[in-house]
Amino acid sequence: VGPCVFISRSNLPSIIYAELNKLPIEIRMWKETGPMWSKQASPPREVWVEMFRNCVGAIVTLGDTIGRSLINEASKLFVISTYSVGIDHIDVKAATERGIYVTHTPEVLVEAVADLAMGLLIALARKIVLGDRMIRAGEIHDKWGWLLGNDVHGTTMGIIGLGNIGAALARRARAFNMKVIYWSRTRKPQIEFALGIEYRPLESVLNEADYVMVTIAASPETRHLINEERLRLMKKSAYLVNVARGDIVDTKALVKALREGWIAGAALDVFEEEPLPSNHELTKFDNVVLVPHIGSATYETRERMAEVTVRNLINVLMGKRPLYLANPEVLSVRPLQALL
Ligand code: GLV
Ligand code: GLV
Repeated sequence: VGPCVFISRSNLPSIIYAELNKLPIEIRMWKETGPMWSKQASPPREVWVEMFRNCVGAIVTLGDTIGRSLINEASKLFVISTYSVGIDHIDVKAATERGIYVTHTPEVLVEAVADLAMGLLIALARKIVLGDRMIRAGEIHDKWGWLLGNDVHGTTMGIIGLGNIGAALARRARAFNMKVIYWSRTRKPQIEFALGIEYRPLESVLNEADYVMVTIAASPETRHLINEERLRLMKKSAYLVNVARGDIVDTKALVKALREGWIAGAALDVFEEEPLPSNHELTKFDNVVLVPHIGSATYETRERMAEVTVRNLINVLMGKRPLYLANPEVLSVRPLQALL
């Protein structure tokens, strides 16, 4: 066998293990399984250090925090391939400085995440989850009146972050006859024109939208972008939906906003603390819909993500460009070379 590749979970789609098994590679795998993104299922630090010192590649998930001190241990590592679009769990700058390729899975999960975002919006507006809870609790008769919701069609969607996911969501909203406004760090005139949507400053998006949708990629600058001050800009009748990353929204401020009625409700797929404890304050509100980070969680999408994850890694080890390189600057730090 050849050089080793570390896989931080044993419960990823089997194509990952199957493709690696075709190559002269020794697979080292952490057998612990658990909720897909959970930090508890991540290997202990000693294991990471040993693997980063000895292996040429690593396949990781969102539940694995890959910081600078670990990256500094990487003597042979050439590539970190994450089974996610998000790269906020990896110190990409440190990796680049050390000549380590960081690859990820954008594009293949875009439509699935946009589907979920639309689903959360409708669940919230039409109290779908609450209705289901009421039927199961036998409360439907006395609480009928509670089930009045809000229109989706003809309202305004405000998108925070017009990346691929934001644009896919805008397309869905337009099909629902919604007006779409967005804020993004870079303005995208071509998408505005193609989809019939309008750019606004962040404050105006928050102020005008009936549904504020967070789809911005997370980075240190986006931490608590949606803070108390910005939540206060939202209409009392407006809903917040976050399918991006938990720490983009200040959870404490959101709980305060919900408790004091500054906004009408929220639907969240991502949290500052994952998995979210079942006794968390957010679980106390009837006007909140919670799902456990399932944006990309369809059989079809996860299969494609796995294909991209393993192809990214194999390409780098063969000295070829990966499908999606998160740190293209690395090409000039340490050029590609065939390791297999
Ligand atoms: C999911 O959150 C991902 O980054 O793939
Ligand atoms: C990702 O988060 C995007 O905006 O495409």
